[in-house]
Amino acid sequence: MLSTAANLINKLACEHNLSDAELLTLITSTEPDINNLLACKADKLRRKYYGDKVYIRGLIEFTNYCKNNCYYCGIRAGNSLAERYRLTQEEILACCAEGYRLGFRTFVLQGGEDAYYTDDKICAIVSAIRKQHPDCAITLSIGEKSSASYQAYFDAGANRYLLRHETADVEHYAKLHPDCMSLENRKRCLFDLKEIGYQVGSGFMVGSPYQTPQNLVSDLRFLQKLQPDMIGIGPYITHEHTPFKDMASGTLEQTLRLLSILRLLFPYALLPSTTALGTIHPNGRELGLQAGGNVVMPNLSPVSVRKKYELYANKICTGEEAAQCRGCLEARVKIAGYNIVTDRGDVRRTLDKSEGEKL
Ligand code: 5AD
Ligand code: FES
Repeated sequence: MLSTAANLINKLACEHNLSDAELLTLITSTEPDINNLLACKADKLRRKYYGDKVYIRGLIEFTNYCKNNCYYCGIRAGNSLAERYRLTQEEILACCAEGYRLGFRTFVLQGGEDAYYTDDKICAIVSAIRKQHPDCAITLSIGEKSSASYQAYFDAGANRYLLRHETADVEHYAKLHPDCMSLENRKRCLFDLKEIGYQVGSGFMVGSPYQTPQNLVSDLRFLQKLQPDMIGIGPYITHEHTPFKDMASGTLEQTLRLLSILRLLFPYALLPSTTALGTIHPNGRELGLQAGGNVVMPNLSPVSVRKKYELYANKICTGEEAAQCRGCLEARVKIAGYNIVTDRGDVRRTLDKSEGEKL
């Protein structure tokens, strides 16, 4: 006789969906070996769509100035202890050139919401990268903007945009953010980005303060509506210079469970095994890949600024040069049973017929 959870996992693996009550049971179940069983099904499915490929994205954290005050985030405007920095266009281009040399074909420009970088400046940076690296994907992750701004970046050559929704529950959203921020605007941004033609990434933190299992079900339902190309999740990790300094961090187990559930709900998705996962456990990123992840996002920022982009405590990989990070990850991914590939790594919404038949 299969346990309740095992039955649900089989159903999820076949139908790529479950009812709210079933998802809740799976998320909260304390039956042993659930995570192993989920990871096994998730890995089988990721191999069907993506083989043993792991895509790499070069992350360039180009500013840690931010006008927002998200309660969980270490670089929030209110953290006067954060040492602020900005990279110049030349420095950003140098990061891309080094990344290109190391085999990166996607660059992710991430930063706080920093008014110094006007739309004109962002467009100039994007156009310059586009000109130097016409074969690369350019991803922006710079927060909530107007539809017109998103359109301008797109026209300048940006192809992808990452904006986690953080939580799809209005009340929970209000517990994580000040009143001037709204879930409604966040969602508006995500749908605008899709409409313009970006490949979109969204996601949420696992174990963020006040998060309930029902909130996680809402997150999954929202993602089903949005159908993003990429879904980024990682454990919430407490930062001591935030209002949430006394709150517990999320766990490895719960994050891995959600990663596998996401893989089974979204067979096609690009799912990063995040730096936050690698921060709460020495093998977190490897375990994330084995739970269904297929993307890693090593840091290409100059070593001199790495420690300053501290969204959460003890972030890993802040001391290594890009080339070292690249080498280290290559080895780790291999040991986990996968292979880094250096193409752009676009989403695979459908399987070729021959690939479907092979299985
Ligand atoms: N712990 C984990 N993740 C965090 N992020 C921000 N602060 C933290 C934290 N304390 C995540 C958010 C954001 C992404 C860039 O980093 O989900 O969207
Ligand atoms: Fe803006 Fe964290 S509050 S990046």
